[in-house]
Amino acid sequence: MENKKKIIIAIDGFSSCGKSTFAKAIAAKLGYIFIDTGAMYRAVTLYALEHGAIIDGEVNQEQLIGLLPQVNISFEFNPQRGASDIYVNGEFAEDRIRSIEVSNCVSKVSQIRQVREKLVAMQQQMGQSRGVVMDGRDIGTVVFPDAELKLFMTADAKVRAERRYAELTAKGDAVTFEEILENVISRDEADVNRAISPLRRADDAIELDNSYMSVEEQMAWFMERYEQIVG
Ligand code: DC
Repeated sequence: MENKKKIIIAIDGFSSCGKSTFAKAIAAKLGYIFIDTGAMYRAVTLYALEHGAIIDGEVNQEQLIGLLPQVNISFEFNPQRGASDIYVNGEFAEDRIRSIEVSNCVSKVSQIRQVREKLVAMQQQMGQSRGVVMDGRDIGTVVFPDAELKLFMTADAKVRAERRYAELTAKGDAVTFEEILENVISRDEADVNRAISPLRRADDAIELDNSYMSVEEQMAWFMERYEQIVG
């Protein structure tokens, strides 16, 4: 794989589609860097929650924008997970960014233009030497419109809620299936309808509905497309 040309693989799609799991598996197989851009929006949301810019689910936009220059996001590769952990101002945050509280507020935070500008610039810098698999909502449309391979992932909302419910309850979070499903549906709506960089399939993206596909099946599907492009 090493002597093949390095490309950018952009993976966009709805929340809880398994984008990150799949992107991580692709990166491991190709020796690429995996970047979870959703984690970056979650990190800003966490910082805003912890610094009083979100109270009872209400985002104080002006305050949050004022905090942005102080938010320092970094990644450190964790060999145990086979992916990078996210740090906010030097503090490990990989676990805290996945809480239901962050999940419930992140859509609002990701609608703020200044937040998107800061994170998109970071993402473009991280991918400049190519050899990256980046997953998010606007990677193939805004961050890297010139990505050589673009995937658009979808899956049935109930299947996605079941996956996230299993993930959170395994961690010991006291959540109900109904609240997770509601969160999945409301995030879909927010992602598709927001004014700036809404979730949409890039014209040149290939669609993958993985409702009933294993990671192995998805990988076989992906490698065929990858080989066609890279040769
Ligand atoms: O992929 P995720 O569920 O961890 O993403 C968290 C939120 O961040 C999601 O509600 C949409 C937003 N997001 C975004 O607006 N743009 C991206 N490139 C990635 C995520």
